[in-house]
Amino acid sequence: MCGIVGYIGKRNPKDIIYEGLKKLEYRGYDSAGIALFQEGKIKIKRSQGKLSQLQKEMADPHFFATPHHEIFLALGHTRWATQGRPSEKNAHPHQAGSVVLVHNGIIENFSSIKETLLKKGHTFASDTDSEVIASLINDHIREGHDFETSVQRAAQQLVGSFSVGVMFEGDPGTLIAVRNGTPLVLGVCESENFIASDIAALLSHTHRFVYLEDQEMAVLKKGQWVVKNLNGKPISKAIKEINWTQEMIEKGGFQHFMLKEIFEQPQAVIHTLQDRVRKDEQGLLFPEVSKLLKELNPLGRIYLVACGSAYYASMVGKYLFEQFSHVPCEQDLASEFRYREPLIGKNDLLIVTSQSGETADTLAALREAKKRGAKVLAICNVKESSIDREADVTVYTYAGPEIGVASTKAFTAQLTVFGLLAIHVGMVKGVLSEQAAFDFIQELIRLPLAMENLLKQDAYIKKIAQKFYRKKTFLYLGRGTNYPIALEGALKLKEISYMNAEGYAAGEMKHGPIALVDEDTPVIILAPQDRHYEKVLSNLEEIKARDGVVIAIGNEGDERLKKLSDYMIEIPKRSELCTPILEAIPVQLIAYDIALKKGTDIDQPRNLAKSVTVE
Ligand code: AGP
Repeated sequence: MCGIVGYIGKRNPKDIIYEGLKKLEYRGYDSAGIALFQEGKIKIKRSQGKLSQLQKEMADPHFFATPHHEIFLALGHTRWATQGRPSEKNAHPHQAGSVVLVHNGIIENFSSIKETLLKKGHTFASDTDSEVIASLINDHIREGHDFETSVQRAAQQLVGSFSVGVMFEGDPGTLIAVRNGTPLVLGVCESENFIASDIAALLSHTHRFVYLEDQEMAVLKKGQWVVKNLNGKPISKAIKEINWTQEMIEKGGFQHFMLKEIFEQPQAVIHTLQDRVRKDEQGLLFPEVSKLLKELNPLGRIYLVACGSAYYASMVGKYLFEQFSHVPCEQDLASEFRYREPLIGKNDLLIVTSQSGETADTLAALREAKKRGAKVLAICNVKESSIDREADVTVYTYAGPEIGVASTKAFTAQLTVFGLLAIHVGMVKGVLSEQAAFDFIQELIRLPLAMENLLKQDAYIKKIAQKFYRKKTFLYLGRGTNYPIALEGALKLKEISYMNAEGYAAGEMKHGPIALVDEDTPVIILAPQDRHYEKVLSNLEEIKARDGVVIAIGNEGDERLKKLSDYMIEIPKRSELCTPILEAIPVQLIAYDIALKKGTDIDQPRNLAKSVTVE
């Protein structure tokens, strides 16, 4: 939830840290800070609020970095508050004696450690668990241990998630990092090294990364680095070349990352399809999945587990798996699955879905399932993320870096993967005929063009959306594979415009929600001409009979729907495999256009973070 950047090298670190934090601001942005060496002492600047506030503090002419033996050393942090309100005193970096630290995670036993340290005479300036870590390291140093040993000993005492960067006034040529439970990566070069929570912060400096695993620490010095376990034993680590470019991280001329990513969806689907579909031959190229299915023969149940939008994508996946492969599926929120004693076993398959690959609850669900003997397939957008590395098999969504907190292109790429997997499993199990599979695959291949055409309706969708930006609440309704899109549309509106929005199965209306309907309630109803069409139309008529305002998302040329609706957004007629992907675009644009009118912080909505790496 927080962003960490660290630097050791020959260049002045102020801009390196600040620019790195800007790339990580989407992870958390209620306060920020930087620490650097100045004439042998560590100086710190911190501020509450957005990073631009810290920039003003950093402009202080008395705040500058000086090298020690030609080496500069600095740490930076952007915070999403967990323990301790957003404030300057709770912002990182935290200092305890001669130790300065930045932290991402939650320490579960910080109160008992703090009590012990208070009895030993330590004092605290903040309410955070992070300051307790700095103080614990300082305590070990005061007991005579060296910097590295003190960090190791402190880390061994902590319970919870902690990725930290640590500096020590007694050793200005060394930067130490520890990873446990939340992501931390090294950026390695000939004469300088970096640490960061996410490679996005470092791509303008290097494409060579070393991914730390839990309970590993890195000791970075002038032009060298070593990774050790917490007992000090060196561990050999591979350097990974990641070919994401800086411009893939930038906005590319769009006003917001979210809008850019909405318009990148056709490309995201193309990249997710290619190398897996063959234009002229039968079947799909999924060797890793075929191997897994051989190990899981006979396949028991498929469990689909995720959070947020990824959960809604897996809801669509459940419908598709059952329709295309007749495999019984269970589906659950990761935060529920991990605590409910799931009866998942060795012949079952858990499919976890996660854009970031770092969502704490989803990672915990993966570990729970593995503990119970199940195999795990991850659908993930970030290579080398924790979920990627711990799954038995990962099917990547090649959506590229998704910076906007509200998930868009990763969501439709996830839906694409679920479509491919359902077809593949259906074929492997002999339930889906080769011809049917071929037809669905052809439809997927043509889908990006249909998406491009649909995106051309953005001006029309904006006109509709902006009529409703002052409304108090919205209803989103759908049936079958459209129902998860109703939920996703409601979530999009909630998270970026802060308006109340409810997604419901349309069939549920008469069991309560219809009480919400009046002339002031816009109802977005997903009504493609599929097996649920007639039922959805009667839901629509019930809404109209109560003066509800209906914005229908339906198929091109559907005059009947058009007559019944107040507004209609037309999508091309496709199967239940591709229709949810198409419907995602108008519900995303509606949310975006309303938020734009309301002037909310679309890429960094309040209270949210891009990756929920703590429970
Ligand atoms: C989606 O718009 C939200 N930002 C959020 O629900 C997100 O989908 C959820 O936190 C899961 O994240 P993940 O895909 O990185 O695991």
